[in-house]
Amino acid sequence: MIDSKQQEKREVALKAAELVKDGNIVGLGSGSTMDFVIVELGRRIKDGLQFTGVASSLKTERLADSYGISMQELGMTSGIDISIDGANEFTEQLHLIKGGGGSLFREKIVASLSNNTIIVTDSTKKVNQLGQFGVPVEVVPSAYEFVKKQLIKLGGNPIIRKSLAENFITDNGNFVFDVDFGIIGNPACLAQQLDGIVGILEHGLFVSLTTKILMANGNEVVTFT
Ligand code: 5RP
Repeated sequence: MIDSKQQEKREVALKAAELVKDGNIVGLGSGSTMDFVIVELGRRIKDGLQFTGVASSLKTERLADSYGISMQELGMTSGIDISIDGANEFTEQLHLIKGGGGSLFREKIVASLSNNTIIVTDSTKKVNQLGQFGVPVEVVPSAYEFVKKQLIKLGGNPIIRKSLAENFITDNGNFVFDVDFGIIGNPACLAQQLDGIVGILEHGLFVSLTTKILMANGNEVVTFT
């Protein structure tokens, strides 16, 4: 028996999975909503759907594999027909904060390679302006103090992400700062400033990378384009 929140995730996942067509190269994002997408794509494979998946995290890769999805390496991928991924926050302008699960770097590569990026969310993630969810910033360990200082200079409050008592480690062997910048008036400007800091591998501001957002809202799925 799944609760109503899980049911919403499942509904929006089913809608997104319908968009995958035979022969597609499909970017597979990360997170609990994506897990439902992967399960549904696995079910459609049994009905004869043929496609190749590209994973945005090791966890997604393992799950996709367990559902019989044929996978190709992200690093060997030069184009993706459609990608599906979750988000932690979004606006109607299709700006996102991602990286709550720590997979932001590979997720951004997947989105950047995609002709069509579909985001699966629910109404709790919709905001007028980004910034209630701290911006995840993946930092190379040797740049820890330097990056922390730069983030503070930009007006942020960086908190190192922990997993149990240890620093959280990404699939790429790096740390993550969750940075409170307050309300983000201009996501494109902040993204550009973060892009310019040496030692940041990637950040979770996704600006102009999304084609469509599918939002579960009770029994319906609302689309933002
Ligand atoms: C992982 C992500 C996820 O897509 C994001 O955290 C949303 O996950 P969920 O569907 O579990 O709410 O960005 O890095």
